[in-house]
Amino acid sequence: MINKINEASSYIQQYLPWQPEIAIILGSGLGPLADIVENPITLDYKDIPHFPTPTIASHAGKLVIGTIRNKKVVILNGRFHYYEGHDIYTNTLPVRVFRKLGIETLIVTNACGGLKDDMEAGTISIIEDHISFFAPSPLRGPNLDEFGPRFKDMTEVYNKDYQALARKVADELAIPVTSGIYCFFQGPMFETPAEIRMLRMLGVGMVGMSTVPEAIVARHSGMKTLGISLVTNKAAGLSQNQLSHEEVMEAANKAEKNMVALVSGIIEKIES
Ligand code: HPA
Repeated sequence: MINKINEASSYIQQYLPWQPEIAIILGSGLGPLADIVENPITLDYKDIPHFPTPTIASHAGKLVIGTIRNKKVVILNGRFHYYEGHDIYTNTLPVRVFRKLGIETLIVTNACGGLKDDMEAGTISIIEDHISFFAPSPLRGPNLDEFGPRFKDMTEVYNKDYQALARKVADELAIPVTSGIYCFFQGPMFETPAEIRMLRMLGVGMVGMSTVPEAIVARHSGMKTLGISLVTNKAAGLSQNQLSHEEVMEAANKAEKNMVALVSGIIEKIES
């Protein structure tokens, strides 16, 4: 694992004109944030050692290095989902690589189903905490001591100051946001209505197939994480329709302007 992390980060390092401050992982349909990067340097995953190629069309498979509002960022445009068949270590490899590159702040975005009444399609929701249902632990196996301890506290996976900043920026931009607990399911099938009823009893707000393993790895290595979900549909059984990837993509595309405005506003003000 350490060799893979070192080889991937050494490769990326050659292209970095400066020390990056913020790493950003883009979820389904949120790729347009990569288009506002200034002076971009784009690397194909296929050229980065040990990075797999994404298998779904809505994930570009490119690492973009550049600036947004004068902040030095590295963007993972297309993530590796567990449901694609990658093991959990490959799924979270980019986060280890970001840390190895000296980055201490992670902004992670995703598309999700909404469970709370204030979470209609198109709602942006700030992740307060998570529940990891049936995700294998990305920290299982020999501990990577240079990143963090064997038994890591998970009290504040999603940094509270960053959550407050996200709410403040949303307020200033008059973009409505909600917040809630994000629950991970392996996918790739959407949940059943019975699963969603269970999650509602547990107080879950959002459900999706990503983010949690990455956030755990970020927390292990002491990175500060902000998680932002875009609700693309009401969760199963709450929605009038059957769920589909097309519906998810359509809602993501509609909300893309607000997501880009919010995330770039946060980037401008965030202290890494
Ligand atoms: N469930 C899981 N993942 C999702 C959903 C959902 O309803 N919508 C978008 N990603």
